[in-house]
Amino acid sequence: MLALETQDLTKIFRSGKVTALDGVSLAVDTGHIFGLLGPNGAGKTTLIKILLGILYPTSGSARILEHPLNNIQVKEKIGYLPENHRYPEFLKGGQVLDYFARLSGVSMQDIQKRKPALLEMVNLLEWQNTKIKKYSKGMLQRLGMAQAMMNDPDILFLDEPTDGVDPIGRRAIRDVLRRLQSEGKTIFINSHLLSEVEMICDQVAILDKGRLVSSGTVEELTSPSKKYRFQTVGIPDDVVAKLKPFALKIEHYNNSLEATCANFYSVNDIIDCLRANNVVIKSIVPHKRTLEESFIEILKKDVIN
Ligand SMILES: Nc1ncnc2c1ncn2[C@@H]1O[C@H](COP(=O)(O)OP(=O)(O)O)[C@@H](O)[C@H]1O
Ligand SMILES: [Mg+2]
Repeated sequence: MLALETQDLTKIFRSGKVTALDGVSLAVDTGHIFGLLGPNGAGKTTLIKILLGILYPTSGSARILEHPLNNIQVKEKIGYLPENHRYPEFLKGGQVLDYFARLSGVSMQDIQKRKPALLEMVNLLEWQNTKIKKYSKGMLQRLGMAQAMMNDPDILFLDEPTDGVDPIGRRAIRDVLRRLQSEGKTIFINSHLLSEVEMICDQVAILDKGRLVSSGTVEELTSPSKKYRFQTVGIPDDVVAKLKPFALKIEHYNNSLEATCANFYSVNDIIDCLRANNVVIKSIVPHKRTLEESFIEILKKDVIN
């Protein structure tokens, strides 16, 4: 089942004459953690706001949980953590959850039932009676995720959930997301933090200047490059020189070298040459591009086109 799909979604802000979204078509299956990536101003927040009904598209259409966007009932199945949210600072953590759950129409009975479990999941049970002005950014984001879960949604929209959160806080957020996925939730994350997304998302799409420039699994977007790193016990310079015919490019560091090879036959030629010269090989590791490297490459191509 599709958690959401958009068709040719376009949003032009007439005030600023900005095309925030330009014919975006994408589909997300249920049960996935989907990452929408893109630089600041790419249109990520605009897309979420259209899906939630906060903004109207200029043209195009979208469906959530197989219903059109104007279906009111489907809103009960959506959780939302906005970008740069600001909860009233005089509230205690537990009160924030009460307040937003009541706004979503959750019964007092369900609030009492869900609150302790969610506070425990985001590791804030002991902090529920502390005013949130004492919370760190990471704690506020975790509280925000609990808030977004209070109506027990099927699909969760998180806009930049780890922005401004320290590494330990980010890890805690990732743990919560994995747990939610194991419970069958679909999670849609907007992020400009690529390494973050690489660690948790199973599907990603890249948005640039309102246009979808690439989509697929993280695996597909970070396909191996032609670089191989050879770890050895020392390579004399004259042996490095002998390797040159076999590789497109050779970079030599103390006990390792990086060879860009046209194919795996060249990798084997290098191994033969090293061994013939009594070089001891400790390991050979194909270099995998990070999502960030792929992302920059894709955006560069987009500029050229
Ligand atoms: N309400 C608005 N009025 C006019 N322009 C807007 C409005 N909201 C966003 N924009 C513009 O639309 C573009 C996309 O913004 P946004 O969706 O917030 O990007 P992102 O979330 O990827 O950083 C930006 O150029 C932004 O300035
Ligand atoms: Mg944004």
